[in-house]
Amino acid sequence: MKLPKDKKALATRHNKVVFDCGDTVAKVFNATKPASDIVNEALNLTRAQEAGIDVPQFIEVGKDGNNWVILTKKVEGKTLRELMNETPEKTEEYLGQLIDLELSVHSHRAPLMNRQKDKYARMIADAADIIDEAQRYELLMRLDGMPNHTKLCHGDFVPSNIIVREDGTLCVCDWAHATQGNGGADCAITYLHLQLNGENELAESYLRMYCERQGCSVNYVQGWMSIVAAAELARGRVAEHDYLLSMVDVVDYV
Ligand SMILES: Nc1ncnc2c1ncn2[C@@H]1O[C@H](COP(=O)(O)OP(=O)(O)O)[C@@H](O)[C@H]1O
Ligand SMILES: [Mg+2]
Repeated sequence: MKLPKDKKALATRHNKVVFDCGDTVAKVFNATKPASDIVNEALNLTRAQEAGIDVPQFIEVGKDGNNWVILTKKVEGKTLRELMNETPEKTEEYLGQLIDLELSVHSHRAPLMNRQKDKYARMIADAADIIDEAQRYELLMRLDGMPNHTKLCHGDFVPSNIIVREDGTLCVCDWAHATQGNGGADCAITYLHLQLNGENELAESYLRMYCERQGCSVNYVQGWMSIVAAAELARGRVAEHDYLLSMVDVVDYV
């Protein structure tokens, strides 16, 4: 594919740039990202779409020069992140929308999606340089003991991944980390990402409201916290290393 010259960068990360190309949005990856991750993200997106979730329409995965690209149809609107920044007094309302949408995603099934427990077990094993063997064993035991669910889990359900259209409908983008599994893990990830973003108050309100609406205890979600923190460490989050390690350490005290 050939992307237009006048494309506008929407987001720049260490391994990709997301461009607005007019009618489409292109996620352009650099060479550090394995092709299998890119194809997996595109596959997750199409599986979520086929499971009945409102997602950006998939157009194609291909190459622009040397770079892999995932191309989707542009969704017009603002992200919940932008709306929270613009009108902070409505944050509680936006948080409620985020949680209702997250729970509705969890009510869908995608039987071909990767399994959450397999993915976390792999990631904990990958964190061998950072987490000692005894702790990795504890984490794997804890993971194994978690209830086996088959909910569609987004894996990065944060305000910047939700686009609100003019008519108020909500579209979920960024399916790179999706799995089928336990919704509590998804909630723990959102909480952790809000904390890592320095939004402690928002993280606590989110956790409280999620548990209320889902009808589970905060303790239940906290059981996932050390596991998802270990997975984030495996992903190479260097800047947040100390905070994540402290979350993993919780294992020692429960
Ligand atoms: N199809 C789309 N339509 C409109 N905006 C999009 C679309 N895809 C992505 N975006 C915007 O680009 C941002 C980054 O894309 P995303 O897929 O979340 O990449 P990343 O994995 O880097 O977070 C999103 O937060 C959203 O604002
Ligand atoms: Mg995103």
